[in-house]
Amino acid sequence: MTIRYADRFQQPAAVAAYEAAEYGAGSYASRIWDLQKPVLEKIVKDFCAAHSGPVRLLDFACGTGRVLSVLETLVETADGVDISENMVAVARDKCVRARLRVGDVLTQPELLEQKYDVISCFRFLLNVEPELRARVLRKLREVLRSPDGRLLVNVHGNSRSLRHPAIVWRRARGGEKEAMLNELSVGAARRLLVESGFEIVQQFGFGLLPPTLYRTPLRAAAAAADRAAAGDNLWKDWSVDILRPLQNVFERMI
Ligand SMILES: C[S@@+](CC[C@H](N)C(=O)[O-])C[C@H]1O[C@@H](n2cnc3c(N)ncnc32)[C@H](O)[C@@H]1O
Repeated sequence: MTIRYADRFQQPAAVAAYEAAEYGAGSYASRIWDLQKPVLEKIVKDFCAAHSGPVRLLDFACGTGRVLSVLETLVETADGVDISENMVAVARDKCVRARLRVGDVLTQPELLEQKYDVISCFRFLLNVEPELRARVLRKLREVLRSPDGRLLVNVHGNSRSLRHPAIVWRRARGGEKEAMLNELSVGAARRLLVESGFEIVQQFGFGLLPPTLYRTPLRAAAAAADRAAAGDNLWKDWSVDILRPLQNVFERMI
């Protein structure tokens, strides 16, 4: 039986694995985060510098507060929302200023009562059920301030990247039963975002080399090459992990 994504991180064991294994010291995910974090900080700092008035931020599906604990220091007010109480319990320890809430934004409108200047959404779109992707994006668009607000969306499994062969191999070996082996192409992600009412302002790519290299003695060389290749460049469409700042296109046209 396939577990609903909303339930995937409810149990303490899944939370512990996310913190200790997925984001354990030296893991592939934490190396990608090391590359992504300064880029994300710069996006938000530049936004704040250009914005008149206080900046209000929402981290949607904030999980254990990995992203929120960084961004809350850059803005006037920060909120985090997630469907897992146990993920948020970890975020409460990491985040100093953010207001954290638990629930489902699709069925509990009281969770998103305000408008936000910046909304971040990391490591959510790829694995959530396809039928929920557009519904969540449209909900976030409703609370993104126009015309200048930014939605910062991350997709951490590009099917056009060198992660793809490993996914095919693991699927062939029946790995789907124990792991989430989803992929989203650059084209499908762009279509989803545009059809949900957003314009893609920019695109950054992180991780060109196969993640499996990071589990070999070549990991230091792979990390150095991925560091050199990260960012907004010609090969970003082939990166494993993609970050896109978006703005609300419908509101801008009115
Ligand atoms: C892979 S974690 C990512 C957490 C965090 N954004 C990060 O990048 O570290 C995915 C998160 O999405 C949350 N989630 C899943 N379905 C959700 C929903 N319908 N509404 C809000 N959060 C949800 C999970 O509880 C989990 O914390």
